[in-house]
Amino acid sequence: MIFLLKLVPFLLISPAFSKYTPDWNSLDNRPLPSWYDYSKFGIFCHWGVYSVPAYRSEWMWWYWKGSKPDAEVVNFIDKNYKPGTTYADFAKDFTAEYFNPQEFVQTVNSSGARYFVFTSKHHEGFTMWPSRTSWNWNSQDIGPKRDIVGELKTAFKATNIHFGLYFSQFEWFNPLFLDDGKYNTTFYPEQVSYPQMIEIVTKYRPDVVWSDGEWDKSDDYWRAKDFLAWLYNSSPVKDQVVVNDRWGAGTMGKHGGFMTYSDHYDPGTLLNRKWENCMTLDKYSWGNRRAMRAADVHTAFEVIEQLARSISCNGNLLLNIGPDMHGRIPSIFEDRLIEIGEFVNSHSEAIFETKPWIHQNDSSGANIWYTSRYRSGIKTDINPSHNHVYNAQLYQETIIYAWILDTKIDQTVLKSVTATDKTKVAIIGTDIVLTGFEKGTSLIVDKQKIDWQKVVRRDVIILKIEYAATEVRNPLEYLDKKQRIEENTYFL
Ligand SMILES: *[C@@H]1O[C@H](CO)[C@@H](O)[C@H](O)[C@H]1NC(C)=O
Ligand SMILES: *[C@@H]1O[C@H](CO)[C@@H](O)[C@H](O)[C@H]1NC(C)=O
Ligand SMILES: *[C@@H]1O[C@H](CO)[C@@H](O)[C@H](O)[C@H]1NC(C)=O
Repeated sequence: MIFLLKLVPFLLISPAFSKYTPDWNSLDNRPLPSWYDYSKFGIFCHWGVYSVPAYRSEWMWWYWKGSKPDAEVVNFIDKNYKPGTTYADFAKDFTAEYFNPQEFVQTVNSSGARYFVFTSKHHEGFTMWPSRTSWNWNSQDIGPKRDIVGELKTAFKATNIHFGLYFSQFEWFNPLFLDDGKYNTTFYPEQVSYPQMIEIVTKYRPDVVWSDGEWDKSDDYWRAKDFLAWLYNSSPVKDQVVVNDRWGAGTMGKHGGFMTYSDHYDPGTLLNRKWENCMTLDKYSWGNRRAMRAADVHTAFEVIEQLARSISCNGNLLLNIGPDMHGRIPSIFEDRLIEIGEFVNSHSEAIFETKPWIHQNDSSGANIWYTSRYRSGIKTDINPSHNHVYNAQLYQETIIYAWILDTKIDQTVLKSVTATDKTKVAIIGTDIVLTGFEKGTSLIVDKQKIDWQKVVRRDVIILKIEYAATEVRNPLEYLDKKQRIEENTYFL
């Protein structure tokens, strides 16, 4: 017995038993922990020193002092700040005196989102935790004088929301990084970025590591594959962590966990690999902007539409907000999150733990998108050959959710759904149930049959459709052939 107890921990830590090796073949084979797909909707948050000038966007420093300065930004600073002002001067004014992590968490939670991703460090290099390798350029030494990442991590622990961290690989003006570019050395990743990645994972145990700022250098330079092998094999979050695809020049859309492809990615067709649409609530910036106007902010309807378009195509939606230098989430964002949350919470069965269906949008071309689930639960994979990217359409088993995003028309014709005499349609969030459809034809829902007093929103309703006719269709076959081959290589 004693012998066994001693042996077991040894076996567990022995490198010979490492599951993943630091190469993409091995790393790309790791199954994505299922919580991520089930969660569908997350909130992204960009907060750093850039929220002090809060001018143009979080890229302000680069527009001001980068290789091609933007005249408008330069003039704005010249006109409004003391001569000789440096970007580092902004850090003193990063007071965050209204930052209340509990209130912050409550606002994020009001959106109904199931995960949260926070900028631990953006391209400016300012770490929102007391990093050992960012002395005097972090939120504990200057500005808030607080461990922002740590306080958020603690506050999110009280909820069911998964906590994740964004991390910028490069820093625009870090002298070590600039020298590496000049002399072909690797001092910056060795002394700054790699140790920081290990630091945030061991200290804050994020469920998401969202890498960015990778594009200028190779995955070898960032030591990305070493990091991921460690993350998956032996880090404290090895079982639940998910990562994106930004790990070095050319990795985006190819390697990693879920694919981001680009910012604001919205393909409108089903993709074989799990992907994420990261979008901003402020149409023009990820970071806080003092000049933001109401019309610059996406409406709740627009966000709900993006959610439908994303999850019906095997994506998640990650919606960004940018707090101000005082630590306040702008009231207009708060208002949007509450409005989105009212919809998400009352329609959760059509969102969370669903799968794409055999059609993504309706074949009529109307603005109608589909999600689905099996009556017997998500684990029943009736047709394992499709890796469970989507659910098949089976009369008995499949529940279809039709997101009707155009409610103005008198008659909604669901050309992709064939009715049977048992077909039953409920309007989610109400007690309205419609039956008596004509067998063998497209499902038709008359606007007059809906009691509009009862619906949660008038501009979008979700129909829960049961006992529609069986249909055999593989939506992945309709992908562009080249893309299909490329994506299939990761599944074989
Ligand atoms: C989060 O939101 C849900 C749904 O509205 C609510 O039941 C829960 O109490 C909230 N939790 C926190 C910590 O605010
Ligand atoms: C840079 O260094 C790497 C690794 O030491 C080497 O393989 C590569 O050829 C070097 N590139 C240049 C341009 O010197
Ligand atoms: C589905 O949506 C895509 C993307 O918006 C669009 O290009 C396509 O025409 C739509 N398909 C149908 C059948 O309407």
